[in-house]
Amino acid sequence: MRGRVVFVRLNEIRPVPNPFARRGLRTWPADSPRVARLSGRLGDMTPNPVCPPPHPSGVHPPALDSALVPSHVAVVMDGNGRWANARGLPRTEGHRVGEATLMDVIAGCLEIGVKEISAYAFSTENWKRSPAEVRFIMGFSRQVLRNQRDDLDSWGVRVRWIGRKPKLWKSVLKELREAEELTKDNTKLTLNLAINYGGRAEIADAMRAIAEDVAAGRLSPGGITERTVGRYLYAPHMNDVDLFIRTGGEQRTSNFLMWESAYAELFFSELPWPEFDRRELWKACESYARRDRRFGGAVEKVSPPS
Ligand code: FPP
Repeated sequence: MRGRVVFVRLNEIRPVPNPFARRGLRTWPADSPRVARLSGRLGDMTPNPVCPPPHPSGVHPPALDSALVPSHVAVVMDGNGRWANARGLPRTEGHRVGEATLMDVIAGCLEIGVKEISAYAFSTENWKRSPAEVRFIMGFSRQVLRNQRDDLDSWGVRVRWIGRKPKLWKSVLKELREAEELTKDNTKLTLNLAINYGGRAEIADAMRAIAEDVAAGRLSPGGITERTVGRYLYAPHMNDVDLFIRTGGEQRTSNFLMWESAYAELFFSELPWPEFDRRELWKACESYARRDRRFGGAVEKVSPPS
């Protein structure tokens, strides 16, 4: 045995003659409470998430105090269609390139320490688009989920769907549920995918559910608070949005996370989504870190007379 290292599973340890006893080392029989405790701890250890690939330029995130990194970032991935059309391509090519942008931005979130990202992939209003584009986005979302779920899982990302069931393609919902199930224990980052999502729809759905509970006597109207409303939203444990980014040069929030973004800091990028990447995300984070968030409060800061 000298010079050889032997690995055994803890549950295979048997109370055998102890070769270490002569050297004054202690061992424990397999059924001892100490081994059970250690084995339990090892059993809890899931493989560490792998780091996502660095940006091709090799650039690293800015060194921000962790308290100044936004915990929850929301992104409106706008400008895909215009980006593609400007290059003589159909709008759908912009969405196709947008998949890589989304993965790069997720990698950037992991690198800088963002804990939650919400991405607006398809709104309740997007059904107004041409049937061909709607069909493309539905099929493409299904494909993105299937292509990316293993990488997301290995990076420690938990996928969660937010949106309305009616009208949403069943095959997309199935893919979303599978990704949710696969990644449910991941804790590095939560990715909320908004598909067939609308902020007003979410609030209306919550109001309906609240009314049903009041009518059934499960909830008293006098006890309804902001916290109660939060519990009836699509993702009751979602954190408020800290930083709300919209790409593509437009400056509006387009019905995305209306309730959750009540105090979000807004960042509008001129870049269309296909040209956005983690470096732009980090610029938005740096801008966020410089903001003075008061949440309606105020402090006296009288300047000395000049
Ligand atoms: C908005 O740009 C973009 C969309 C409505 C679709 C975005 C979808 C993806 C990037 C695919 C990602 C898929 C998943 C599952 C996350 P636009 O079409 O409104 O662009 P425009 O303003 O130039 O018209």
